[in-house]
Amino acid sequence: MSQDNFPIRKVDHIRHYVGNARQSAYYYQHVFGFSVTGFHGLETGQKHEVDYLLEQNDVKLLFTAPIRPGHPMADKIAQHGDFVQDIAFEVDDVDWAYNEAVRRGAQPAHEPYSLSDDNGYVRIASIHTYGDTLHTFINRDNFKGHFLPHFQTRNDPGDPIGIMEIDHCVGNVELGRMNQWVNWYEEVLGFHNLISFDDKDISTEYTALMSKVMSNGNGRVKFPINEPAEGKKKSQIDEYLEFFGGAGVQHVALRTDDIVHTVSRLQARGVEFLSVPKTYYEMLPDRVGEIDESIDELAELGILVDRDDEGYLLQIFTKPTTDRPTLFYEIIHRKGAKSFGKGNFKALFESIEREQAIRGTL
Ligand code: FE2
Repeated sequence: MSQDNFPIRKVDHIRHYVGNARQSAYYYQHVFGFSVTGFHGLETGQKHEVDYLLEQNDVKLLFTAPIRPGHPMADKIAQHGDFVQDIAFEVDDVDWAYNEAVRRGAQPAHEPYSLSDDNGYVRIASIHTYGDTLHTFINRDNFKGHFLPHFQTRNDPGDPIGIMEIDHCVGNVELGRMNQWVNWYEEVLGFHNLISFDDKDISTEYTALMSKVMSNGNGRVKFPINEPAEGKKKSQIDEYLEFFGGAGVQHVALRTDDIVHTVSRLQARGVEFLSVPKTYYEMLPDRVGEIDESIDELAELGILVDRDDEGYLLQIFTKPTTDRPTLFYEIIHRKGAKSFGKGNFKALFESIEREQAIRGTL
C-alpha cells in the first residue's frame, strides 16, 4: 500500500441531526438494539441542544436535536429532514489533521478547540464535505471519561443484534459532481479509489448511476460516492437529491458476523427490507457456488449474496428509515469478500424501482 499521507484511525461516530432525539434514540435502541450510553442536555448544562449517544460493539451513533427556537441547525433539519450531519474520524493529531486538510483545500467548519472536564480533555475540529455533511476530527487520548466531557454516562442497555462496526458510508452527490468529490477525498484526506462502477455496471431498463469507492490509508474507512447517470426514468439518486435537497449520506452499512440472526431480529421488530424476486434465489447456486448458509433461509429473509476473488458477502438493504426516501441502512456480512455486491446491483435496483413506482417518483 502507498504511504498514508493523512492518518485516520477509524470512523469515530456518526452524528444525526433530528427533530426529536429522544424518539430517535428509542427507535435505535429498541429496533436496532443499541444501548444508550451517554446523554448531554439541559440536565448536564447544555442549553441549546440535546445529545443521545448510542453504542453497539464498535458503532457509535449520536442523535442531536435543537431544543430552542432559532438553533442554527433547525433550518437544515427543516430542509433535509432527519439527516446524517457528521461522519467523525478519530485521528492521532486533530490540529495537524485540520490544518493539513484546510491547506489541501477543505472548507473549514470549526477550528480546533478543546472540551474538558475532570476526566481530561478532548481535541476537536471539523471540515465541510459534500452538501451539509461535516467530517469532525477527534482525539481523546488525554481523556479518561466516556465519549466527550460533560456527557452523562448512561447504562440503558438495548438488546443487541450483532451489529459490530461501520463497514462503509455512502454519499449521493449531484450529476457530474462524483469525480470532483473523488478528487477531494484523494487530495484532501489521502484516500484512494478502490473500485469504480459505471452506468453499464449499475443500470436497469429505466435508471442508472455511477459510483466510485474511496478508501483511506489504513483501509478502515470506505466511502462510496454515487451520482445519477442518464436513464429513461428518474434514478434513485435523483429521487434522493430531490427529497433531501442536495448531496448527503444515502446509506450506512453496518457489519454483522451473523446476518441471519441480525436480519431475523430486525424483521421481527418491524424493519422493512427491499425484497428480490424468487428467481434471484433459483439462480443463486450457479452464481455464487458453495456457501455456508441455507439458501432457503436466505430467501425467506431476502438476504442477497455476491462473490468476488477473495470470498463472498451477504447483504440486505432496509427501506428508507425516514418518511422521506433518503437515508437507509445496509446490513453486510463479509466472508472474505472485500467488494460491495456488484452482482446484486441489478436485482436491487429493480427492487428500488418497484418502490419508486409505488411512491410515484420513478
Ligand atoms: Fe453499501
